[in-house]
Amino acid sequence: MAQLNDHYLKLKAGYLFPEIGRRVRVFCEQNVEAAKRLIRCGIGDVTEPLPPAVTKALHAAVDEMGTRETFKGYGPEQGYEWLRGAIAKNDFRDQGLDVADDEVFVSDGSKCDCGNILDILGDKNRLAISDPVYPVYVDTNVMAGHTGDADASGAYAGITYLPCTPQNGFIPEPPPTPADVIYLCSPNNPTGAAATRPQLQAWVKYALDHNAILLFDAAYEAYISNPALPHSIYEIPGARECAIEFRSFSKNGGFTGVRCAYTVVPKSLLASTSSGERKPLHPLWLRRMTTKFNGVSYLVQRAAESLYSPDGKAQVRALIEHYMGNARILRDGATRAGLQVFGGVDAPYIWVQTPAGVTSWQAFDKILGEANVVVTPGSGFGSKGEGYFRISSFNSRANAEEVARRLQALRW
Ligand code: MLT
Repeated sequence: MAQLNDHYLKLKAGYLFPEIGRRVRVFCEQNVEAAKRLIRCGIGDVTEPLPPAVTKALHAAVDEMGTRETFKGYGPEQGYEWLRGAIAKNDFRDQGLDVADDEVFVSDGSKCDCGNILDILGDKNRLAISDPVYPVYVDTNVMAGHTGDADASGAYAGITYLPCTPQNGFIPEPPPTPADVIYLCSPNNPTGAAATRPQLQAWVKYALDHNAILLFDAAYEAYISNPALPHSIYEIPGARECAIEFRSFSKNGGFTGVRCAYTVVPKSLLASTSSGERKPLHPLWLRRMTTKFNGVSYLVQRAAESLYSPDGKAQVRALIEHYMGNARILRDGATRAGLQVFGGVDAPYIWVQTPAGVTSWQAFDKILGEANVVVTPGSGFGSKGEGYFRISSFNSRANAEEVARRLQALRW
């Protein structure tokens, strides 16, 4: 008798964003007039068109694929050398960081990489995950059978939750107990907080002391405005011995629909076999990629490469400035509405405390029903997200201004 993966049955409800989409669809069907003025600030999905450097590179790559002499079939599973080289040089070596071209693995998205990385990690690792958190880190561990069941608050047995609260500036602290695999996301989704150098130094020290691995999600690093804040975990000495970094072109190059990202696995990063031997993870990730993946399309890799051209860099900067301009407007609007506001300075997300006695989903329903704006309920990111909602600044300027106005018109 064929058996299913029981671990999937432990998952709570649907994945957050499809669930929000479902509720919004029902609302729109029942409120046809309100639906016409709906503004979506829920999922962090880019709205602005691709940079011209990217469309130019895509057109050129399409032409190459249409000619026998320049046509490409399968490429290297881990990415073309010219893209891995451009990434390692621009994002790391030009910043004084030691990352070799062949430590960069090109993929179709950080969400996939965050889930896929579990293939090369053991199933006995003690996990430490922030709360609130990007749901993918938790759900992929549940699916892989690395947790027990969830309790009434939605917390899974086997995970050490690291509370992120206003008291710690929404940056988790190393726990008093040992953990083997720790997920960190900075700038943070959903809270918009970004870790300081001393905070990351404390994590690297913890990881080295415990032979642990940091899974560092830096998908939003381009949004850091404070020059003192680290963009990469490899800015911290010792991180090459304890950290894997995930980066994405989704939120800087506007690639959510194009799909391209990369993961850095340093060759100096070791983990233990079940018999206690220390071995490098790099060859395992290479083996996993070459076995289970056929690489990102040539067209998309050429598109990603164009983001590192002088024009591409300037156009990415303009996109970031656009979205961060929205973040300022939304922060200001929510503050004027009398709400307590966090984030939105070094990240495109604004984390807003609900008025006293209002739950995250109640705030979601009120903002949807009365302002016709979609936000994300904080409790969807974990129990410590209860009492908050997230506003995404990925939108047009006109929509950001309109959302700021509508938030101020709400009466709680
Ligand atoms: C979000 O809204 O949290 C992000 O869009 C999710 C993602 O990047 O997968």
